[in-house]
Amino acid sequence: MKTLPGKLVNWIDERFPLTATWKAHVSEYYAPKNFNFWYFFGSLALLVLVIQIVSGIFLTMNYKPDALFAFASVEYIMRDVQWGWLLRYIHSTGASMFFVVVYLHMFRGLMYGSYRKPRELLWIIGMIIYLALMGEAFMGYLLPWGQMSFWGAQVIVNLFSSVPFVGPDLSILIRGDFVVSDTTLNRFFALHVIAIPLILVLIVVAHLVALHEVGSNNPDGIEIKKHKDANGKPLDGIPFHPYYTVKDGVGVVGFLIIFCAIIFFAPDMGGYFLEYNNFVPANPMKTPVHIAPVWYFTPYYAILRAVPPMFGSQFPGVVAMGVATVIFFFLPWLDRGKVKSIRYRGPIYKTFLTLFVISFIGLGYLGLMPATPTYTLISRVLAVVYFAFFFLMPWYTKIDKTKPEPSRVTFK
Ligand code: HEM
Repeated sequence: MKTLPGKLVNWIDERFPLTATWKAHVSEYYAPKNFNFWYFFGSLALLVLVIQIVSGIFLTMNYKPDALFAFASVEYIMRDVQWGWLLRYIHSTGASMFFVVVYLHMFRGLMYGSYRKPRELLWIIGMIIYLALMGEAFMGYLLPWGQMSFWGAQVIVNLFSSVPFVGPDLSILIRGDFVVSDTTLNRFFALHVIAIPLILVLIVVAHLVALHEVGSNNPDGIEIKKHKDANGKPLDGIPFHPYYTVKDGVGVVGFLIIFCAIIFFAPDMGGYFLEYNNFVPANPMKTPVHIAPVWYFTPYYAILRAVPPMFGSQFPGVVAMGVATVIFFFLPWLDRGKVKSIRYRGPIYKTFLTLFVISFIGLGYLGLMPATPTYTLISRVLAVVYFAFFFLMPWYTKIDKTKPEPSRVTFK
């Protein structure tokens, strides 16, 4: 390459594998040609991660992690800092949209059996990302120091004190105090702005390394590496660039239209993205009548409340909530189906997956509502459905009547 940029690339290539990496992971990385709508959400999750980090850096420039000033500093960002309102709404909307995108990304995995061999580790890394993301969102929510920030943290950290023997010490360790206080705010700030984002970025890189090692699954749930041409390229694969960079670009544009519409027209999303009670400064002397976490935690919160206390301890509910979250880790070994994709599964799996989705959304709704006797009863039924999906999986995936898989991907 005789041009100046060409010479520069040559100079770098002699010292760093720039072109080789670009080829191996982008321009000559072969992905199945039959990706559909559901394959947008991985790249969108990456986009939201970047949006959150960049908007977070600018918010941090004006935010004060001090119980006396935190609430006022957020108001200052909203009213006085130039474009501050935009930065804050980008970040708060980004938090909810992160979960929207990640839940759809995970659901795709369930539909197409993407967690199955050889992608078990890819799935496990994804689950670690999910847990880190929950921690990140929980700690970030304390920072505006509103009523819901304070009381939400108070309720959730108190749950840890129900753990036998170590519980009370554990909750003091998390808070750094006997109640949620300035100390808690300081440590949550440190974890939210540096520790967890750093971990998130590292495990997202590991997620992509694992993905490129095994290659993507696809809507047919079959391995494209089984059929290769004379040069060793998968016959049903196409280079990631330009084909999927263009396709993902379409996803990005569609996503940004929705994202901007929310930011500019409904930034609190009717109280679901920003709760109304959080526009009131934290008051340790005044417990809100109704405390509910943000929508992305409410399916688990509903499970927590559905389990009755035992000997006056909430521990059984805490265990149920914990199991409901970590059970996803075991999916690769719970699923005994002969095929991966929903396209070739039988009616039993399809029924269980539909019931699971209904239970997840239903629990999410009930977790936002006050725990009346009727709602608690419905939560119990839905919690049973939720767990049945996982615990009965080894049985129903085995007996289900599956359809034969094609040997090559279907592409219309
Ligand atoms: C910050 C969060 C995440 C980012 C940035 C991310 C990124 C990606 C990207 C770019 C892909 C390839 C494109 C695609 O298949 O859509 C992918 C694939 C995948 N991810 Fe994630 N991911 C995240 C979270 C998760 C979570 C929480 C899980 C599951 C618990 C997960 C499981 C998977 C699986 C199984 C695949 C392969 C899917 C297939 O080939 O069918 N990821 N991820």
